[in-house]
Amino acid sequence: MTWLTDFWRSSIGGKVTMAVTGVLLFGFVVAHLLGNLLLLAGPDAINSYAKWLHDKGPLLWVARIGLIAIFLLHIVTAIRLSRANKVARPVAYAKEATMQASMASRSMLWSGLSLLVFVVYHLLHFTFGVTNAEHFAKKAAPSTAAWNGHDVHAMVVASFQVPVIAIAYAAFQLVLFLHLLHGLQSFAQTLGVHHARYTPMIKKLSVLLAAAIAGGNVLLALSVLLGLVKGAA
Ligand code: HEM
Repeated sequence: MTWLTDFWRSSIGGKVTMAVTGVLLFGFVVAHLLGNLLLLAGPDAINSYAKWLHDKGPLLWVARIGLIAIFLLHIVTAIRLSRANKVARPVAYAKEATMQASMASRSMLWSGLSLLVFVVYHLLHFTFGVTNAEHFAKKAAPSTAAWNGHDVHAMVVASFQVPVIAIAYAAFQLVLFLHLLHGLQSFAQTLGVHHARYTPMIKKLSVLLAAAIAGGNVLLALSVLLGLVKGAA
C-alpha cells in the first residue's frame, strides 16, 4: 500500500486524486439535481424516487459511505496541495498569469470549504431533520409516502417557503457555480488539454455545465418561494 500513499503524496498523484474525486462528486451533484427536479413533477414523483433509493437498503449505505470517503479525500488532498504550494513558493509571483492561477486555486479552497459548511447544514436539514424538525416531521399518506410516512415533497416545499432558507440555498449556488467552473477547467488541465482551439471551447462548456447545475438548484428553491410549486392541499 505504500506505493499508493507515495503516489498520493506526489504532486502528480495529488492532482490525479483531485481530478478523479472531483469527477465523482460532479457526477453526484448532477444525479442529485436530476432526482430533485422531480419536485416539479409533484409529490408522487419525488416521493417514489426517494422510496426507490431508500429501498436499496445496504446498497444505499455502501454508496453513502463511498460518497463520504470521496468527499473527505477531495478535501484532505486539496488542503495538502495548497500547503505544499505555499511551502514551495514563499515569495510572491513575478508573472501575472501564474499569480492568477494561484488566486484561482486559493479561491477553490475557500469556495470548497464554504460548500462543506453548506453540505453539513444541508444534511442536518434534510437528512437528519435537526434544523427545522417540523419540516422533516411532515407525514404523507402511506400510498404516496417515501418511507414510514416520510414526505420528501412536503419537507422541501415547507423549507423553501421560508424566504431566508430559499435565499440562502440560492446564494450558495453562486459558490457552487464558481467551484464547478474552476474545477472543470483544472480537470481539463490535469488531462493535459492545452490547445488554442480546444481551450476556449472547454471554458465555454465549463460555464454552461456549472451554470446548468447551479441554475437548476436555484430554480428549485425559487419556484417554491415564488409559489410555483406548492404543497399538496
Ligand atoms: C435545491 C437544491 C437541493 C435540494 C432540493 C436537495 C434535496 C435533498 C434532500 C431531500 C436530501 C435528503 C435525501 C435523503 O435523506 O434521502 C438531500 C441529501 C443530500 N444532498 Fe441535497 N439537495 C439540494 C442541493 C444539494 C447540493 C448543491 C449538494 C452538494 C453540493 C447536495 C448534497 C447532498 C448530500 C451529500 C446529501 C446526502 C445524500 C444521502 O443521504 O444519501 N444537495 N438533498
